[in-house]
Order: sequence, then C-alpha cells, then structure tokens
Amino acid sequence: MSNSLFRTKKISTILSEGSDDSHGGGGLKRVLTVRDLTFFGIAAILGAGSFSSLGAAVFSGGPGVVVLFVITGIACAFTAFCYSEFASRIPVAGSAYTYAYASFGELFAWIIGWALIMEYSIGNIYVAFSWSDYFTSFMDKLGDSIGVNLHIPEYFSNSYMEVKDALADGSTNPEMLKAWNEAPVIGGLRMIVDIPALVINVLITYLVLRGIKESRNFSNVMVVLKMCVVLIVILVGGYLIFANGLTFNWTPPNDAGVNSFMPNGFGGVMAAVSGVFFAYIGFDAVSVLAEESKNPQRDLPRGMIASLVLCTIVYILLTLVLTGAVNYKNFEGVGDPLAFIFEKQNLNVGWMQFLVAICAVVAMTSVLLVFQMGQPRIWMSMSRDGLLPPVFQKIHPKYKTPSFSTIVTGLLVGVPILFTDKTFVLDFTSIATLFAFVLVCGGVLLIPPKEKQAGRFHMPYINGRFIFPLIVFGSIFIIAIFAKNYFPSLFNFDFSGNEDYAKGKISFMDAATPQISLIVFWVSAIIISVIAFVKRYSLIPLMGLITCMYLLTGMTKSNWAWFIGWLAIGLVFYFLYGYKKSKLARQA
Ligand code: ALA
Repeated sequence: MSNSLFRTKKISTILSEGSDDSHGGGGLKRVLTVRDLTFFGIAAILGAGSFSSLGAAVFSGGPGVVVLFVITGIACAFTAFCYSEFASRIPVAGSAYTYAYASFGELFAWIIGWALIMEYSIGNIYVAFSWSDYFTSFMDKLGDSIGVNLHIPEYFSNSYMEVKDALADGSTNPEMLKAWNEAPVIGGLRMIVDIPALVINVLITYLVLRGIKESRNFSNVMVVLKMCVVLIVILVGGYLIFANGLTFNWTPPNDAGVNSFMPNGFGGVMAAVSGVFFAYIGFDAVSVLAEESKNPQRDLPRGMIASLVLCTIVYILLTLVLTGAVNYKNFEGVGDPLAFIFEKQNLNVGWMQFLVAICAVVAMTSVLLVFQMGQPRIWMSMSRDGLLPPVFQKIHPKYKTPSFSTIVTGLLVGVPILFTDKTFVLDFTSIATLFAFVLVCGGVLLIPPKEKQAGRFHMPYINGRFIFPLIVFGSIFIIAIFAKNYFPSLFNFDFSGNEDYAKGKISFMDAATPQISLIVFWVSAIIISVIAFVKRYSLIPLMGLITCMYLLTGMTKSNWAWFIGWLAIGLVFYFLYGYKKSKLARQA
C-alpha cells in the first residue's frame, strides 16, 4: 500500500498524454505567446490583494509591511524558478499538481490538486467579494456624478455571514446595520445576498466557457488599463507625499511613542502575511496554460518571471505610497485603501477616487478570469490520470474548452458566496497556496538533472552544499548574538502577560501557534541543511523551500485547523475514488 501511494508518473508519459496532437486533435487550442502569458500573470496577480486586503495588511504592520512584500516577493521569485523548471520539463496543463505527480508521487499529487482548489476557486470568492465592494462604490460615485440614484442596497451588496458576524460582534458599522435592518425577510430568513459577486461569477464562467482566445483578448485590455491606473496612483500619490511634506508617516510613533518604520514590531508585520501573500498569488497560474501556449518550454518561464518582477515593484511602491499618504492607523477596516488615500480628509483628489474605483473593478475582473480558467485545467489533468471522473476532461466540441469542469468551477465559487465571508476565504487561500509552493520547490529537488537544450528554460544550478547550511547556521548565529531573547522566548509558553489570553479571548493553542510554527521551522531548516550538504542540492529550490516555509509560520491556529480539515476531506475522496481508479493503479 505505501508504495502504491507514492507511485510516480514518468515525465515521458505525462508529455505524451498531455500533447493535444496525441489526443487526436481534440485538445486545447495553442494560441498564447510570451506576451500573452506575461499579461495573464499580471492579470492574475494584481487584484484584490492590492486593491482590498492591502488596507488590513498596512494597518497591522505599518510602513514595515514593505519588508514583508520584499520577503514574499523573494520567496515567490525562487518559487517561480521552480515552477518554470517544472513547466519547461512538463509543459502540460495541471501546474503544481502535475509536477507533484512526477516528483513526490500520486498521494502528494492528489493533496496538491486538492489544495489548489482553495487557491483557484476559494481565492476567487474573496476576489468576487472585493469586486462587489468596489463595484458598489463605483455605482454610487457614477450615480452622484450624473445625478441618478444607482445605489445598490446594502443587503444586496454584502454577504450574509459578514453582516451576521459584524452584528454579533456588536459592530456599529452603519453599512452592516442598514443591511440587517432593511433586508426583506422571507420565511424568517433575512435576504442578505451579495448580488454583484454572484453576477460577476456567472459572467466570468460564461466567458471562460466561450474559449481561450476570447478570454485572452478581454484580459489583455484589462491588464493594460489596470497597469496604467496603478502607475497613476503611484505617481500622483508619490508626488503629493513629497509636495505636502508627509514623509514623516513612514516612521509613525508606536504605542510607546517611539517613531518606528515597524510600529507594531516584526510580529505586526508577520501578522499581515495572509493578505500580502494573497497579493502575490497568480504568477503560478501561468503554468496551467501550458497546453495553450505556442512554445511552452520557452515562454512559460519567461511569462511567469516577468509578471512577478513587475508586480513586486508595483507592490513595494504602492505600499510606500499608501503608508506615506496616510498614517497607518487610519487604515482600520478600510476595504478600498487605494481610493481611501485620495479621500477628502487625506490627499483630497476627487477624480483619483473615481479612477481607482473603475480600475479596481477592472483589475479584479481579470483576476477572476485567470483563476476561473486555471481551475478546470487542473481538474482536466487530474481526470486524465483517473483521479477524478472522466467527465472532468470533457472538451466542448465548438469552444474547445473543458466545459463540465468550467461549470463546476462556477458553482464552486458561486454557491459559497451565499454563506462565507472575506476574512475566512483569504486565510484559507493563502495557507493552501503556500503549502503548494513548498511542495513544488521540494519537488524540484527530487527530479533528476537534465541535459541543456537550446531554446528551453534551465534553472541555473548553484551547488547549495556549503552555501545553504552557511545561510541557515549563519542566521541562527547572528540572531543568537544580536537578538539574544529570540530563541529563549520561542520556548517560553507562559502567556500570563498576553492581554488577549489573560482575558480569555484566545486559547492557549492560539497563543502558542506562532512559537510552535517557528520551532518547527528552525528544526526543519537544520534538517534540510544537513540533507542539502549530503545531496549537494541546488540552491534556488532550497531557498524557495525555506522562504515559503518561513511565510507559513505567520499562519494562525485556526488557519491550520481549517486547512488540515480540508486535507482530511480530500484524503477521504482520494481513498474512495482516485486510489482505485487512478490510471497508474489500473496499470499496476
Ligand atoms: N493576487 C490576486 C489578487 O490579489 C489573487 O487578487
């Protein structure tokens, strides 16, 4: 049994199955170039993370969140190299799932495929909610400017759970109160539904079903538009920060009155990890388009890395503009931070608020589009391998798109819109994606080296034998010398000084999770150093592995609990269906 769980798929087999030619021409259309792939990357990356969750991230970490963007950008860059290495060797749809099948074997492949549902489908729920927030405020602004009432009632522009939870927490937010009090009641149930989020999901599902070429055209226009507007935000905001002499906001006073770039310490910065990481999710989505690219071996890596580099620069500048324009504390509860900095009490530029609202709607539409395209392609690969029923690989005869999988994706995004809220889906998505990244970086270490071929991407091999252990042990040494309290405090589980714990707001495990995560991280880093030394592992995937593992230490206990629960459900499905029906099982 244990061997069959780790049965791996040969790369040559994956390639022969993945090619559309070998499928009798019934596969996907190969139309995408490197420029399209870069655009797809940006389309997927720049969205709700920068337009919405950045507000909460900045509130938690202050201007120092820039450091987290840099760390996360570096982690993603290393990971992008690993995705590229896999994508150049295995240029078929399926992304991390397919890569895991070739390196770790079937069980891990299934686990990754299952985790990716959270990245692609559950992540899109967050984006749909954020889309709805901006769309609603855009309609209000449009209505005001043309003198017509275009207001969407609060009970039709918020999710039921969000309103219910806010009320239960004693919120005095007028929007939430209005939604609750004015909602029509049918059969004792308040009709609070986020209609714009539902409608955009239906439209996107339809567009994806219609075909890759139409979606590509739509997406390219949106990417150009959103990049231009983000650039204007950076230029106008940046100019006003200096013109109005606001640079002091970059070192605001903390609670003790000391000016600091990280007013809530590094803990405050790390607490923003879900939101910051969410902003980066998307470059990996490029790899699911392998079967629709003209020259996947060459173009996928280029598209992925180019889009990642561009977006990293944008994020760093955006965070600096946000935290320079307004004191970080003012971002509490702000869901539209980019528009917020131009409001009257802040930089006071009316036309920018309008522009940002339009841009946000456009930016998030393109994110929805890319993820909604990615999910069916992963399922298609899983179905080809027998891990999902054959219907998941059904290709529409006219549109040449995976029709059944596309519709199921639409339902998977649409139905939970009725009963989840933003925070929950944000955390869920980030932890699952980071987990997938860890496995992709680890997977690259396990596949054998290959001969260089002209025109193909090759990840540069830097022997990590000495450098990696030097980085790990050097870091431990430097921390032990310069932050003497760091390691002893990891093992101090006395939380009587923790206000939330003392008041019973959080449990012992809630308080202990960050420390336990860091202990696991350092022990793993030491073990990986030893293995890297013995096996002479390549430095880039090692760095990807360790930086993604570090980001995982920012996850809370409830993130882990939900994630582990989700994986457990996935394993039940696997053993009930995939384990027996998988192609490899049948060949054995
Ligand atoms: N990175 C994507 C976004 O921010 C998921 O919307």
